Amino acid sequence: MNFFDKFLTPLSAQHIVLLHFMLMLIFSLFIPFVGLITGGSFFSYFFYKKGKRENSPDYIRFSKEIIEIVKINKSMGVVLGFITLLTSILIYIQLLSLSEITSIIYLIISLFVIIAGLLLTYNSFTSKFGFIFLLISIWIFVAGITIPIYKNIITPNDSIINIMFSSIVIFKFITVLLLSGVFTGSTILFIYFYWNGGRNNINDKYALFIKHFAIRLTFSSIIILPLFLFVDLVKIPNDALSVSVFVYSSLAIAVIFVTYHFLYIMSREKNSNFSLQIFVSAILIIILFVIKDQISFDNATELRTVEMSSLYSINMDKLTGANKAPKISGEDIYKNICSSCHSFDHKVVGPPYKQTLPKYKGNVDKLVVFILHPTQNNPGYPPMPNPGLKPDQAKAVATYILNEVKKYE
Ligand code: HEC
Repeated sequence: MNFFDKFLTPLSAQHIVLLHFMLMLIFSLFIPFVGLITGGSFFSYFFYKKGKRENSPDYIRFSKEIIEIVKINKSMGVVLGFITLLTSILIYIQLLSLSEITSIIYLIISLFVIIAGLLLTYNSFTSKFGFIFLLISIWIFVAGITIPIYKNIITPNDSIINIMFSSIVIFKFITVLLLSGVFTGSTILFIYFYWNGGRNNINDKYALFIKHFAIRLTFSSIIILPLFLFVDLVKIPNDALSVSVFVYSSLAIAVIFVTYHFLYIMSREKNSNFSLQIFVSAILIIILFVIKDQISFDNATELRTVEMSSLYSINMDKLTGANKAPKISGEDIYKNICSSCHSFDHKVVGPPYKQTLPKYKGNVDKLVVFILHPTQNNPGYPPMPNPGLKPDQAKAVATYILNEVKKYE
């Protein structure tokens, strides 16, 4: 166990579920906001330069308006960009118990970079540095949340360069940028053409330019998202995959197709206005992506969860004296359940304990985790079915067999 783990109390299974749920909520606020402010500051800078170069007051005006829209206001910036990320880091520390410190370090660095990016963006009208910092912070953030899931592609021990430039981190980074494009485009549509009845202090030419730009931005970002979802499903490791990952990915694809439709009609028919529908769909798409990724994260760290919650039950039992009542006998459990497949010194269905237990010597907790959640460890044997024990029973039998096997050394 990691050194830092000593400072953390194990969490109950319910507590862990709650933390995963909170992460979904927090990321459903953080990712749209950061996507919007990054997209907005980029296009604000882009149109400022273009306006200067082509001497077009419309571009300059749009550049100013766009950045005002995405900034919302300073306190929103602090809450949505900073507090959310800080809270999610605290949750990651709890969930990973610092066993995967690399992931947490990346998240902490991304927090500092995003602070710089937000300060620059909020304190000047167009800042390319603000945009660059925000972009880098998203990249590092994505690396942080990707490491615990894609253990088949990157390991926490890889160098920073290997992690940041690994195909999967780049892939996830581009996915977030596409989501950012979708959300920025649809927010512009929403603010100019729906919010408070739409902006009416704008002339037709300016309105048309904004409508075309926002539809094109949303459409070009959304068009390849289904492909990204598909590749993601192919690349995701088995232990992070589950039926719900498929379900949420399919839902996202369905919403994406509906959004195509709205965008298409709105770009074709002069008087149609689907700004609200497109905006709501964009939010829904981001939330579905967040849920899907959090479920994969939950699946990928399941072993860790079993370990933590069983330690929790053991601690609770100690505190409440529950294990003193009817004493659980490791020997009974061994004789009634395990001995049908195991013996200490010869092969039955499973391998002899003499051969498999030495690696658990001095590490009962690891053996408890195996018993609660068997994995395939020995080539040439079928996988062990889950014996369905409670954590305290697993602990009792683990202690018993580790003690007993000494006789065969
Ligand atoms: C239905 C048969 C069956 C039962 C019941 C069973 N096991 Fe197993 N066990 C296996 C098989 C098969 C393996 C080999 C799986 C593998 O490691 O690939 C195994 C492997 C193991 C290992 C080796 C793990 C490792 O990391 O090498 C341990 C320890 C173990 N079992 C303990 C237990 C305990 C304790 C019980 C009772 C609570 C139990 N088993 C019940 C079939 C069984």
